[in-house]
Amino acid sequence: MTFTIRVFNTPHDAGIYVASLAEFVIMNKRNPVLGLATGQTPVPFYESLVRLYECGLDLSHVTTINLDEYVGLSAEHPQSYFHFMKSNLFSKTNLSSSCTFVPNGASANLVEECLRYDEILKNYPIDLQILGIGINGHIGFNEPSDTLIAKTHVVELRHETIKSNARFFDSEDQVPKQAITMGIQSILQAKKIVLMAFGTEKSKIIEQVVIGNVSTTIPASILQFHPDVMVILDQDGATDLLKNTDYLDANHLKIK
Ligand code: PGA
Repeated sequence: MTFTIRVFNTPHDAGIYVASLAEFVIMNKRNPVLGLATGQTPVPFYESLVRLYECGLDLSHVTTINLDEYVGLSAEHPQSYFHFMKSNLFSKTNLSSSCTFVPNGASANLVEECLRYDEILKNYPIDLQILGIGINGHIGFNEPSDTLIAKTHVVELRHETIKSNARFFDSEDQVPKQAITMGIQSILQAKKIVLMAFGTEKSKIIEQVVIGNVSTTIPASILQFHPDVMVILDQDGATDLLKNTDYLDANHLKIK
């Protein structure tokens, strides 16, 4: 199965496109469910989705399910993923607070919290899953490992992830060492997946994910088994992929 690739000039342009994909799902499903991601990558998408809402797109019937949350951070913590979602999307649209799900990283019983989240995933099959990618190939917080875990679970974050995410905290030692993440099976059950990656630092991993072997050491490579994945890149994120001229020709991609 090959991915559908789109290379945009800027993350802003890509964000407008992904928001239009979300609008299509929202307009055409009776009970649309979006799987959502946090981090820097999806910010232009959320900006565009908020613009669409301001221009008349109703989100009141939409359910959203986030991929992950840091363990130990309450919803109010400025670096929690719930807080990120609230400030970038939830508070700016008419999404219903009873239909926006984010794992509770502050739960006193994380095992039960994982089971609760799997129940939510069972009740609301995801129509469109938005993904970013870590520089080590993680999706959600499914880190490189010998085994990829199917269901929602608690994960020890890898050093490269902690180092990378330190940019959002005052210092590296403030980054939580654990997270709750949706499992690989839940991600693969989404009807359609959009994987976004911007910037030169994501370029090498994108090349490996798209044209390399499938391996648990590059979790995103398992997306090769999904029948409907779009890979949304900016020019920098596509640099290494676009060096593969055979791939370029076969996919009608052009270097600008
Ligand atoms: P980023 O994170 O969008 O902030 O680069 C992506 C990820 O780690 O999944």
